[in-house]
Amino acid sequence: MHDFQFKDAELFAEKIPVRKIIEEVGTPFYLYSANTISNHFKAFDSAFEKVPHTVCFAAKSCSNIAILRLLAGLGAGMDIVSGGELHRALLAGVDPGKIVYAGVGKTKEEIKYALETGIMMFNVESTQELFAIDEAAEDLGKKARVSLRVNPDVDPKTHPYISTGLKQNKFGINIDDAFEEYKLAKGLENIEVVGIQKHIGSQITQISPFVDALEKVVNLANRLRDEAGINIQYLDIGGGLGITYKDESPPHPRELAAAIVPMLEKTGYTIVFEPGRLIMGNAGVLVAKVLYTKVNEGKNFVIVDAGMNDLVRPSLYGSYQEIIPVVKKNGKPKIVADIVGPICESGDFLAKDRTLPTFEQGDFLAVMSAGAYGFSMSSNYNSRPRVAEVLVKGDEFHVIRRRESYEDLVRGEEIPAFLK
Ligand code: LLP
Repeated sequence: MHDFQFKDAELFAEKIPVRKIIEEVGTPFYLYSANTISNHFKAFDSAFEKVPHTVCFAAKSCSNIAILRLLAGLGAGMDIVSGGELHRALLAGVDPGKIVYAGVGKTKEEIKYALETGIMMFNVESTQELFAIDEAAEDLGKKARVSLRVNPDVDPKTHPYISTGLKQNKFGINIDDAFEEYKLAKGLENIEVVGIQKHIGSQITQISPFVDALEKVVNLANRLRDEAGINIQYLDIGGGLGITYKDESPPHPRELAAAIVPMLEKTGYTIVFEPGRLIMGNAGVLVAKVLYTKVNEGKNFVIVDAGMNDLVRPSLYGSYQEIIPVVKKNGKPKIVADIVGPICESGDFLAKDRTLPTFEQGDFLAVMSAGAYGFSMSSNYNSRPRVAEVLVKGDEFHVIRRRESYEDLVRGEEIPAFLK
């Protein structure tokens, strides 16, 4: 559920008409609902109340510091994948002891930054990375807490670009090699082995991949305890639970909990979760304006002021994002149209062959389910300033990231003397 609902003909974000925000902020902008974010977080958190756990929000899904602050205030930790995300998490006031750091390409500088910060643990993705962390910890005279990210070779049955737990993916350490890898880690002077982690993919809409992967990882943890005397504290099962974009019916967190809590309880470990999409996906929309409409060879195009640089998911993954008017007009016939942006690429679309009420020049629309991997994947392609982000809470709203200016676009660029 989310808090973007019609009252009569008008779309509201919580208690505010979206039209009112448009009047003040202009378009396009991302619009998030604080209430929806809190509800999603609490629904997930409470589903697992039977096991000791920390919910580390996947900051990559939406990394605005106001959003991170809101979640930190609810008790969330963070799952980060870069020094930049660590910087954001710290600015937002996230407890460093609740930060887990994944990613296959952590640099030495990033590792040192995280060590100085005192994060909960690194989720290590290769032997060379393990050595790099050991060295960095030695340089700083610290012990690095690590878990190994294990690749369990389970098919998450999702889009290939967001599937991470198969042998052929670049992520983690093959489960068959993990036992030896743990022994190696245990022998390193500046490493403290504290956990085990897996994350098999994103937008997973079935329970069985979670169960299958968890079984494999729990077996490994048991073997580590029994055969190598390695006792971990944290079992990090990653994120990945899907949401409804169109007609998917992913399990509710309670259903996932019903399937895996008995297994988790038995382990006695503190469980770490890394949900992103589940919390933010349906808590945000992208609001845009119809610039022009046209018909080419009998095909209808609705050209809006937001493009693939603002929301790349339809172009990159062929994702479906529902599109609704900000103000419903009575008696408009439906048409089949492509909703496209201003970018100079034919791959620049928000919807293809979509049956929609007729949109006219100057109308506003909302692209739904855009809160996760929307703004955070946006770019300046075609030298388009990145859009504003707005957070609504009840009858208040705040611009949590102002629209970029042309000045912002060229910040850091210089014409060298030899061209002057
Ligand atoms: N943990 C790790 C290690 C991850 O790599 C990810 C997502 C998550 C947690 C959070 O997964 P979630 O709960 O959000 O499914 N840009 C793509 C999604 C990429 C996901 C990357 N990793 C999209 O727009 O669909």
